[in-house]
Amino acid sequence: MQKFENFLLENLPVSKSIHPTYEKALQEMLIAGGKRFRPALLLGVVNSYNSLLDEGAMHAAYAIELLHTYSLIHDDLPAMDDSPLRRGKPTLHVVYDEVTAILAGDALNTYSFEVLSNAPFSDSVRVKLIRELASNGGLNGMVLGQAIDCYFENQPLKIDDVKILHTNKTAKLIAASLKMGAIIVGKEELGEKLYDFGIKLGLLFQIQDDILDVTQSSEEAGKLTANDGEKNSFVTLIGLDETMKEANTLADELLDELNNFDENLKNELSSLLTKYINRHRN
Ligand code: IPE
Ligand code: IPE
Ligand code: MG
Ligand code: MG
Ligand code: MG
Repeated sequence: MQKFENFLLENLPVSKSIHPTYEKALQEMLIAGGKRFRPALLLGVVNSYNSLLDEGAMHAAYAIELLHTYSLIHDDLPAMDDSPLRRGKPTLHVVYDEVTAILAGDALNTYSFEVLSNAPFSDSVRVKLIRELASNGGLNGMVLGQAIDCYFENQPLKIDDVKILHTNKTAKLIAASLKMGAIIVGKEELGEKLYDFGIKLGLLFQIQDDILDVTQSSEEAGKLTANDGEKNSFVTLIGLDETMKEANTLADELLDELNNFDENLKNELSSLLTKYINRHRN
């Protein structure tokens, strides 16, 4: 992923103006790092089939990371999860102010589509990628999930509704990362299959995140933990033991499905996927 990190540093959002902190705020959470799970998924799919498309794939991987990073900046705002720590750094609304954090998030959101629109692909591929990122990251995807998450604080939901919440707020963007990789290499049928796999993977990823909220310290996680008490998290609703069982079932199903991937896809993605699929068991 060194190439991705270099691409990110070479393509940071730039804005020179009289504003003393705007540009720094835009860049801060991107540089702070993070697991880069979504870019790794997209790049893994592309490298499985056509590593010559690597340069264009970097644009798409970066676009997803930009949108994801915006979602984290807004997720931490006082009106949402009110969190002072992200990626091991103080959050933007703490370092600067709420206005700066809101606007930095807005700017990264739109910049993600600007980056995607500049990717060296045909217009038709670019439009498909833009559609995929927008529809999974936007009004019927991540944003919907966040709206449900925040609206139903302190109102316990049925577990099936929480699965819908988690699917929207987290799984759709993860599924889109895999599918966008397939679009880049021109394998749309594979894209549909990977999308379904990604929805399950993303649901597991958020359930694991709910587990980590109670099992990791803020220092270990690099973000505020023990912060889901008012949330419809799996652990809050059904307890840690049942949540672990649910995660184990999903993880075992995903490992089975991974075994049926094409050989090249399996070779390219299995170490990354195995690591994440099992992360609640470590
Ligand atoms: C955090 O995502 C928000 C969730 C969807 C659980 P990540 O756990 O991928 O956060 P970073 O990108 O590593 O910071
Ligand atoms: C947030 O879920 C998912 C996003 C769309 C950002 P969480 O609120 O559980 O994420 P963390 O735990 O703060 O990273
Ligand atoms: Mg949240
Ligand atoms: Mg949060
Ligand atoms: Mg969480």
